[in-house]
Amino acid sequence: MEYVNILLGLLFACFLVREVVISVRRSSKRVAPGPYPLPIIGNLHLLGDKPQISLAQLAKKYGPIMNLKLGQINTVVISSSVLAKEVMQKQDLSFSSRFGPDALCACNHNDFSVVWLPVNNSQWRSLRKSMNSHIFSVNKLDANKHLRTKKMQELIDYCHKSGQNGEAVDIGRAAFRTSLNLLSNTIFSKDLTDPFSDSDKEFRELVWNIMAEAGKPNLVDFFPFLKKIDPQGIRRRLTNHFSKVLQLLSGLIDERLKEREMGNRENVDVLDALLSISPEEIDRKHIEHLYLDLFAAGTDTTSNTLEWAMAELLKNPHTLEKAQEELAQVIGRGKLVDEADVAQLPYLQCIVKEALRLHPPVSLLIPRKVEEDVELCGYTVPKGSQVLVNVWAIGRDSGIWENPLDFKPERFWESEIDVRGRDFELIPFGAGRRICPGLPLAIRTIPVVLGSLINTFNWKLHGGIAPNDLNMEEKFGITLAKAQPLLAVPIPL
Ligand code: HEM
Repeated sequence: MEYVNILLGLLFACFLVREVVISVRRSSKRVAPGPYPLPIIGNLHLLGDKPQISLAQLAKKYGPIMNLKLGQINTVVISSSVLAKEVMQKQDLSFSSRFGPDALCACNHNDFSVVWLPVNNSQWRSLRKSMNSHIFSVNKLDANKHLRTKKMQELIDYCHKSGQNGEAVDIGRAAFRTSLNLLSNTIFSKDLTDPFSDSDKEFRELVWNIMAEAGKPNLVDFFPFLKKIDPQGIRRRLTNHFSKVLQLLSGLIDERLKEREMGNRENVDVLDALLSISPEEIDRKHIEHLYLDLFAAGTDTTSNTLEWAMAELLKNPHTLEKAQEELAQVIGRGKLVDEADVAQLPYLQCIVKEALRLHPPVSLLIPRKVEEDVELCGYTVPKGSQVLVNVWAIGRDSGIWENPLDFKPERFWESEIDVRGRDFELIPFGAGRRICPGLPLAIRTIPVVLGSLINTFNWKLHGGIAPNDLNMEEKFGITLAKAQPLLAVPIPL
């Protein structure tokens, strides 16, 4: 027992000495201001359960570039549009690596994943190129639009059924299933889940569980020396979920390869196109991991945006009426919105931008990392630092937005500001080399789903809640969710 105590004491002393050496080295560089770090935990205690809010408050005291110590990890937080532009446009290359969470090393996902590979890796470039040309180009998205339209009709049918029974729809859950099916039809040309029956919910639950697990704060990400122990078991559970998804995807790819061998395929879809790329460029394993990435990155983000946008509309009935008027005039009341209609619905587009401004689903972007010391606005960002961009804070910056906490889509009427990564006041999809590749799909599907829901039904908040009393509290995770699910009863128009 005594030996164990001595060993633990020695380990702790080594740890302290290492920390002192590192901080002495750092003090010779001019790092950005930030709160004083406590021994061992650094500034972790300041994050709380809503880091986007705590970091925004700290930025008011320390400024738009801040240096923190989260456990052992030096972290630089960017909280202004000017500095975000510096990081993601002017010095994009230096800030384009990812700071990968440990959990995503499950099934060696980090070695294949477009989200986590560094930008100088040739596989990353091939994957991005393939996504742009074979999945998210205008032509490709136009070609499989009819499959998404079918999924939209199923959502509306489901709402009709709930409305007839006087039952509330859990908007977030319904949006999640729809987003999953819109995506699987876009990249697989088929459903991976039966949309609204519970008989085949395994895949849906797997994706759901992956998001929940990956969103949990993991001690290993702050204290990498715990990596081997995986004290919360997050990597272990994710390994289990990832294996199941990868196995399912592998089975579907086998099926497709057989069909192709037998010459049974008339129409070439996204999967065919990816399987036709030479394996030296993208092999089968990369395709499986790419699909895993797409489901993880594209489902929750889309469904959360839809839930927040609906919540804001139900909280602001005047805005909802205005949107319904526009829809009635342009496409006619009671009809589904088609992807091609969106260009004629500017107010609906403003609503989506406003929802993304106030509720960016990836509120701190996906963490970046610097591989070398980088000079940024007179400060050194030390090699190996994690870099977070607080887009939540930028979206609520009163220096940019008038009455920033009000949901006011009209602010975009006369404004050229867009979400495509050129206007750093509004960057819910990030910007630069790492900008979200799924943006073209998201900005097609979100207005279509939202517009169709409000053009076919009036909505009453469940439980007689008055619009003003709707709880808008956020829950931080891998995406920024609504803490209390939005429940509303659809009443056919
Ligand atoms: C409202 C919807 C969405 C939002 C707000 C969103 C947001 C983001 C953000 C902030 C990033 C990181 C960007 C950066 O570091 O600068 C990202 C990356 C990514 N997103 Fe999205 N996303 C959405 C939908 C989608 C969809 C539909 C897909 C695919 C089906 C997708 C796939 C990806 C992938 C693969 C990456 C990683 C790219 C890389 O690191 O090279 N996202 N997304």
